[in-house]
Amino acid sequence: MSTLRLGDTAPDFTQDSTEGTIQFHEWAGSSWVVLFSHPADFTPVCTTELGKTAALSGEFAKRGVKTIAISVDPVDQHKKWIGDINDTQNTTVNFPIIADADRSVATLYDMIHPNALATQTVRSVFIIDPKKVIRTTFTYPASTGRNFDEILRVIDSLQLTDSHKVATPANWKDGDDVVIVPSLQDPAELAQRFPKGFNAVRPYLRMTPQPNK
Ligand code: BEZ
Repeated sequence: MSTLRLGDTAPDFTQDSTEGTIQFHEWAGSSWVVLFSHPADFTPVCTTELGKTAALSGEFAKRGVKTIAISVDPVDQHKKWIGDINDTQNTTVNFPIIADADRSVATLYDMIHPNALATQTVRSVFIIDPKKVIRTTFTYPASTGRNFDEILRVIDSLQLTDSHKVATPANWKDGDDVVIVPSLQDPAELAQRFPKGFNAVRPYLRMTPQPNK
């Protein structure tokens, strides 16, 4: 196990899940993927997180994203827990939960931080692009549920900045103005890419309306 960094290829694995054996790269196909870990089944914060992910399934699908959860409990426990999640969160869990009882995936992805939580996974998130490249990681403690609107916001930023020469400023959300990458200086290309113009607050800080809106 070595620490995974942005730009690394997401390691492939084969593991059991609530939807049968998953070979990760094959399962991901040409989609974006959000892989996110949970300390344990039948725990309150995790229950709300999985419910929220299911409730946002339309938003993930719209962006071409598959979600996949993981914890170190076995598949029969996951399946019982899904019943509780659906009941209590008024939703239908429609994505797999990896049953990582041998901790092989958790180890591969460095999701167990023993100085924080001895044997369970912390709340890791990996956003992986269709080329299987890790584009974003973040890690929350067990006591803090993640913000799934933030995960969607990051995906919006990644997908926008992959196709336009822009970056997204602090607290940006889809539809807000963006910044033009400083390396773009050619006046003809600036005019062609940003027909609505831009505001050069400083030579390096040029704001423009979101180009795909
Ligand atoms: C939870 O998901 O609620 C949780 C899990 C482990 C420690 C604390 C909370």
